[in-house]
Amino acid sequence: MATVGTLTSTPLPDPMTNPDFDGVNTIGTSSTPEKVPFEPSKHLNFMPPSKVYSMEELGYPQSRGVSPIGVSEPFPLFSAEAIQQMRKEVLSDEVFSKWKYSSELAQCQLRGYATDCAPFVYDAWKSPETLGIISKIAGVDLVPAMDFEIGHVNLAVYSEEEKNKALNEMVAKANRAADEGKDWEDGDPIVDWHTDSYPFVCVTMLSDCTRMVGGETALRRGDGEVFKVRGPQMGYAVILQGRYIEHQALRALGGTERISMVTSFRPRASLIKDDTVLTTVRPISDLGELYLQFAEYRFDILQDRFRHANKLMRDQQRARRSFDTARLKQFIREQMEFLEHMDKEIVEDDKVVKGKVDDCYLLSEDLKLERSKKRRAAVA
Ligand SMILES: [Fe+2]
Repeated sequence: MATVGTLTSTPLPDPMTNPDFDGVNTIGTSSTPEKVPFEPSKHLNFMPPSKVYSMEELGYPQSRGVSPIGVSEPFPLFSAEAIQQMRKEVLSDEVFSKWKYSSELAQCQLRGYATDCAPFVYDAWKSPETLGIISKIAGVDLVPAMDFEIGHVNLAVYSEEEKNKALNEMVAKANRAADEGKDWEDGDPIVDWHTDSYPFVCVTMLSDCTRMVGGETALRRGDGEVFKVRGPQMGYAVILQGRYIEHQALRALGGTERISMVTSFRPRASLIKDDTVLTTVRPISDLGELYLQFAEYRFDILQDRFRHANKLMRDQQRARRSFDTARLKQFIREQMEFLEHMDKEIVEDDKVVKGKVDDCYLLSEDLKLERSKKRRAAVA
């Protein structure tokens, strides 16, 4: 989920060079997609999720994160017409030629294109109606983390041959497990365990997954147990407080394409903490654009906080209250930490290696250890 810069265990074929890919609105369509305005009454198809899991239910303390909500079950969000228009914009020549990112982590990601050449995608995620739905489910008022993160796309394409091979392997494994009297489920991750860079993500499915199996999101509960949430069907979405819950996306089998759209969010209110990091996105971004947008919204937050602090001090003085020195010093320390956090996240351009992500997005020591073992084994 929110597979922004995370490891694929099996390299996926590059859709740009894969002759077998002939999905709807074929990738690299030559014509510019027709402009369609986003109309909430026509393009939203919202039904509340059957269940929303709180952080507490997932075994985490309430103080963790920016909301008491952890993750939702998949729910219908966009109409079929909206999904088709999103596909047209996302799978256009222009997006592929200008906004495609590849890394050791995922071979095909489309990022940062929305402001430039996907007006429908941009408006869909900026719409007050959409944000109202997302915020209500998330339990906190949210806005897109930055324009650069609107509509991040993870694209996996398989040929018929690859699809059948993977399915046959799964059936063979399941049969073997049945012979041995064991339960079996395909637990192969498409992305390794990770946390996201941004507080919340909304993952929307742009592919028809009706004939696919798998594709769940595995979450680690507070006690280390694994908890799975179903993957969304076409037009459905899942909301996850991914910055605070380690998770991994499991493989989906039986399809020739799987295109998911991940939009990241942060709280709208400036007084709520902002733990956003850039660990998973730095290596797959236009750094100038990413740093500009990161600095811009964080400076906006600081301006709001300073204005708020000034008003508070003035109001207290007018009301003849004694000056709260301890509170002022605490406020100053918090803003210094806020700036230090920014300084740490804005890594010098020459120190950022395209496509390389270190382990700092992992929270649990045992997962860090597991990851370093895998790396050593790969080198040996
Ligand atoms: Fe994620």
